[in-house]
Amino acid sequence: MNQKNLLGLDSCFMDMDDPIELFKIWMLEAEKKEINDPNALSLATVNKKNEPNVRMVLLKGLSSKGFVFYTNFNSPKSQDLKNHPEAAMCFHWKSLQRQVRIKGGVKQIEDNEADLYFNSRPYESRIGAWASDQSKVMKVRKEFLDKINEFKQKYKDEKILPRPKHWSGWCLKPSSVEFWLGDQYRIHERLKYNKIKNDWKKEILYP
Ligand SMILES: Cc1cc2nc3c(=O)[nH]c(=O)nc-3n(C[C@H](O)[C@H](O)[C@H](O)COP(=O)(O)O)c2cc1C
Repeated sequence: MNQKNLLGLDSCFMDMDDPIELFKIWMLEAEKKEINDPNALSLATVNKKNEPNVRMVLLKGLSSKGFVFYTNFNSPKSQDLKNHPEAAMCFHWKSLQRQVRIKGGVKQIEDNEADLYFNSRPYESRIGAWASDQSKVMKVRKEFLDKINEFKQKYKDEKILPRPKHWSGWCLKPSSVEFWLGDQYRIHERLKYNKIKNDWKKEILYP
């Protein structure tokens, strides 16, 4: 498919008023073309000392409310977000030569939404959420494997396996979304949506 026609800065997509709708079109394309994890994104946060940090997470929900990912709420990224509830996301789909950058405020999702997603995960992944003190130092790996076995003993019945209180989702409500499409000789195309009051305003940027 002709990439020019997909972003079409001078034609079709300039009349797309909602970046979420354009994002969904790009994500569908990525799901067809990327080998692994088309929903992988880098997530940037800042800590109390204003030091930036970035790591990959997986996009697990998208609606008019925003972009949702799940994680441990005691982890460094969640500590950062509790202290400074703003983040940036970046998707890169190499085989499509596309990037999407998103910025916005974050909020913890509702418990019932987190429960629903948690319960859809495989048993082993749910046990992992209990057993992993994400990003804490472990003395030996056996320590972690022993904890996994302990939780398997505690929650033998996979139907009665509650979501840990420290495991939930963050939702980023976008204030800007920028689409980047690679072109020959670095004459790339960029289309940025900024939220002004309740409306999305578009602008095109130099590459
Ligand atoms: C492709 C990929 C996807 C990942 N997805 C998640 C995720 O959805 N949630 C998560 O907590 N960690 C995920 N991780 C691990 C994080 O990158 C990171 O190592 C971990 O969350 C600890 O980050 P923190 O110490 O900054 O809190 C993923 C890693 C990779 C490489």
